[in-house]
Amino acid sequence: MKIIYPGSFDPVTKGHMDIIKRISEKFDEVIVACLVNSEKQTMFSLEERVSILNEEIENYKITNVEVKAFEGLLVDFAASVGCTMIARGLRAISDYEYEWQIAHINSSLNNDLETIFLVANSKYSYISSSIVKEIIRYDGDISNFVSENVELRIKKKLKIIQ
Ligand code: PNS
Repeated sequence: MKIIYPGSFDPVTKGHMDIIKRISEKFDEVIVACLVNSEKQTMFSLEERVSILNEEIENYKITNVEVKAFEGLLVDFAASVGCTMIARGLRAISDYEYEWQIAHINSSLNNDLETIFLVANSKYSYISSSIVKEIIRYDGDISNFVSENVELRIKKKLKIIQ
């Protein structure tokens, strides 16, 4: 069975990678669906976010995961790849309200679509891509939250290093 793990991944964190690894062990095929986010201002372009995801997946040596970009509704993307399962990570209870809403919206748009939630690893339950970007802007240490590769990519982007 295959499952979609959707998100903005701007950029991918160790928390995201933990979820990807866990679902890749339970499902035959994982599609990491990276949102072409026209409304949200992102640090990384879509191409960069996809290539960083691919680098991370290679570094984690996970073989049954494919990264795809998607635009528009998640339900339409799911139909286009013939998948009826969505995975999302739940960090704190504060995530629940938003996740509850999108899971219901998605299942009301396609009754066949199921969303499953994975409880985030406690090591990563308080991190987010936005917080990582904020910490690094003030020269804080983000090594617990993103891989070395992602840290380098962010530093290059912010011209902290060449
Ligand atoms: O990493 P994020 O930003 O929390 O991911 C949110 C995402 C991509 C899962 C959500 O915004 C999404 O599915 N957007 C696609 C548009 C859509 O289907 N909207 C209706 C449900 S909110």
